[in-house]
Amino acid sequence: MFRKESDKILKFPKDFLWGTATSAHQIEGDNFNSDWWMFEKNKRIKHASLKSCNSYKLWRDDHKFISEMNNNAYRLSIEWAKIEPQEGKFDYDAMQHYIEILSDLKAKKIKIMLTLHHFTNPNWFLDKGGWLSFKSAKYFKRYVKYIVEHIGSLVDFWITINEPGVYVDMSYIKGIWPPQEKNSKKAFLVYINMARAHRAVYNMLHKKLSDPQVGFAMNVMSFASYHKHRLIELLYVHLADRFINHSFYDLTKKKHDFLGINYYFRVRLRKDEGSFKPVVEKVRDQERELSDMGWVIYPHGIFDVLMDLSDFKLPIYITENGIAAKDDERRQRFLVEHLKEIHHSIQAGVDVRGYFHWSLLDNFEWAHGFEQKFGLVEVNFKTFERKLKTSGKMYGEISRTNSIDERKLKSIT
Ligand code: BGC
Repeated sequence: MFRKESDKILKFPKDFLWGTATSAHQIEGDNFNSDWWMFEKNKRIKHASLKSCNSYKLWRDDHKFISEMNNNAYRLSIEWAKIEPQEGKFDYDAMQHYIEILSDLKAKKIKIMLTLHHFTNPNWFLDKGGWLSFKSAKYFKRYVKYIVEHIGSLVDFWITINEPGVYVDMSYIKGIWPPQEKNSKKAFLVYINMARAHRAVYNMLHKKLSDPQVGFAMNVMSFASYHKHRLIELLYVHLADRFINHSFYDLTKKKHDFLGINYYFRVRLRKDEGSFKPVVEKVRDQERELSDMGWVIYPHGIFDVLMDLSDFKLPIYITENGIAAKDDERRQRFLVEHLKEIHHSIQAGVDVRGYFHWSLLDNFEWAHGFEQKFGLVEVNFKTFERKLKTSGKMYGEISRTNSIDERKLKSIT
């Protein structure tokens, strides 16, 4: 008899990495010397990160959840502004703090994926022009050199820069994140400098370590045209895909040992009536399933993106994927639906080696503050008490069994 998909158990490859992802500014708190902190303090950003999840102090509690979910990997970031609070002056206590965190993960046999830049910068760096400065790659490399000398042997995967495209868009085009510029020429320059920084750090890591795994985390989207018959809309899709999903890879050719991809949603592009401007479909009017952030949930999109990027013939890690949802049942469904698509892509021959759910904890969601809930673990932002959500328990089972069972598959059909 014909077996339906829902009758099967979806087994993932041996040694598949199951993890979660976080970033320092979003969970640690007290990021005093960073550009974000300064903008928050000067009320140029509406919400303040304050103690965030207080993870700088409570990281041991966070690690308990990683173990409770049977995860064998964790993606976290190191905070440049804490390591190098003043130009050229490194804070050994901060370094020691991260050494302790990473050593604890190592002792627990958790593979470590370390992000070196996740949106925030030291204040002094911004004063020097930030990523606009031609010297930015040199400054970044100097900081990474210090990191490698201290923790090089503890890290399994290096993510040089998280989502360069999103950083450029939010900080230099939309002008929402520090330094709140709206200037496409500057945006272009920042993008180029970030690619230079990635290349420099890639080379340095390969010089200093034996066989390091180095990549970056790229924000990728699934693009579709509003009308299949309109050539111009197909052209928009092609250009958006080339520019948003591929351009940073083009600028850093042959300087990645794996691809890190962050996938959240799909975008449909339509031609503006009366002009040649592409517009993004207004999904709110069309009763599609949206996350609490208003993003269009489209699990099949991750399959499309994976198939497309498999041309690089490199191992792929899903470095982020998650949903802002106060209703945790939606997160459970989201997880199973996306993992099912990832499993399909593996069946189709794509070399996906791991999945890092965004995020371990409810945390500081940048310009949205603490309202948006992405965590598998709930955090009370007054007491900092943490509690594993049902989605976290479910993820723990998937991770433990390295598979998705029939009951979970049926829950989404
Ligand atoms: C970022 C995270 C962010 C998440 C949800 C990603 O773009 O890397 O820092 O919290 O999306 O918005």
